[in-house]
Amino acid sequence: MYKYTTASFASSRRLGAARSALGRGALYSSEASAIKRVAVVGGGQMGAGIAQVSATYEHGVTLIDVNHEALDRGHAYMAKSLARVAKKKFPEEPAVAHDWVEAVLGRVRRTTSLPEGVANADLVVEAVVENIAVKQKLFADIAGAAPGHCLLASNTSSLPIGRIAEPLDAPTRGRTLGLHFFNPVPQMKLVEVVRAAETSEQAVGRAVAFVKSIGKAPAVCKDTPGFIVNRLLLPYMMEAIRLLERGVADARDIDTAMKLGAGYPMGPFELCDYVGLDTLKFITDGWFKEGDGLRGDKAFAASGKLDELVAAGHLGVKSGRGFYDYSKK
Ligand code: CAA
Ligand code: NAD
Repeated sequence: MYKYTTASFASSRRLGAARSALGRGALYSSEASAIKRVAVVGGGQMGAGIAQVSATYEHGVTLIDVNHEALDRGHAYMAKSLARVAKKKFPEEPAVAHDWVEAVLGRVRRTTSLPEGVANADLVVEAVVENIAVKQKLFADIAGAAPGHCLLASNTSSLPIGRIAEPLDAPTRGRTLGLHFFNPVPQMKLVEVVRAAETSEQAVGRAVAFVKSIGKAPAVCKDTPGFIVNRLLLPYMMEAIRLLERGVADARDIDTAMKLGAGYPMGPFELCDYVGLDTLKFITDGWFKEGDGLRGDKAFAASGKLDELVAAGHLGVKSGRGFYDYSKK
């Protein structure tokens, strides 16, 4: 676990302010604007995917999580996913495929120390639990330890980037933005680049260049709840749960209907389980309580079925059970 005392936090903020001042001069040099070193905070399904893809495209990557077990899980996720990619890339050459996987994994350093992990990063991408207090504290800590030219990005699904950046000073808010990847990161081509009110044009430009450098397509958008994709996807997922609760059909038939009737690659319950039911609940509860323009919107009202599954620890694919049981697969 990170150990921050108030004193060390205050001194790391002073160090950050000094670095910020130093970094400002270098900000406009191409040396500082090119992103070569990426730190990813949170080695869960999203963080591990972001680290993997960054390393695949030759960036030096540091993956940071709270303990070694979480880092090991992230490593296992990357190894499994890279093996899948390598099998397609080098179908006739297993030895070459193996060496390629090892080379990519070799570009990902792992640490439980946040200050050390972000110390020389050009970009930090945060992918921890969907909780505003946790993210605000983390961004303050990152800002205190990362170089003054470093971009600070959140992979949040639903939280306003402007609120995550609230504890930061104005120059740091200028280089804070959303980089919203999609699950599974190695396969999904889109990254939403979220411009908060105070994000600088230069930060958006550098983020767009980074997204292209890892083979993804950027879509730049404003800092509004759900950005583009989740603002459309979440009402659909919640309405599917309400269809189930009203007894219109069972989960399997609703999934089949949307796959075969609407051409979706996954049905809504497969998708809920894939995203994670805890994440889905964090998003919808947050919007219902205080989402800008969404407060009290019944599309995001609590669902008894979802609450029941989350309370039982059935979080979807990542816990082995959600709407479906994955333990036998
Ligand atoms: N790592 C690497 N490659 C992967 C992968 C992974 N984790 N998962 C899937 N793939 C690749 C496979 O290797 C395969 O590649 P080829 O087509 O080149 O052979 C391809 O993806 C398809 O995989 P499969 O054949 O195994 O299975 P599938 O056809 O059912 O596709 C899927 C799997 C890509 C996940 C597909 O079902 C899909 O697109 N589902 C919808 C996913 C989606 O909507 N994601 C967004 C969720 S919302 C979100 O992320 C935002 C948020 O904030 C909550
Ligand atoms: P996850 O539960 O799989 O992983 C979260 C990881 O963060 C865990 O490994 C945990 O140990 C780590 N963590 C928690 N607090 C930390 C801290 N203070 N410092 C370092 N690491 C910490 O979650 P996920 O599904 O990868 O989601 C992560 C973020 O990405 C959330 O904000 C979520 O909304 C967003 N997101 C999720 C999806 C999805 O489909 N699951 C898609 C896009 C965006």
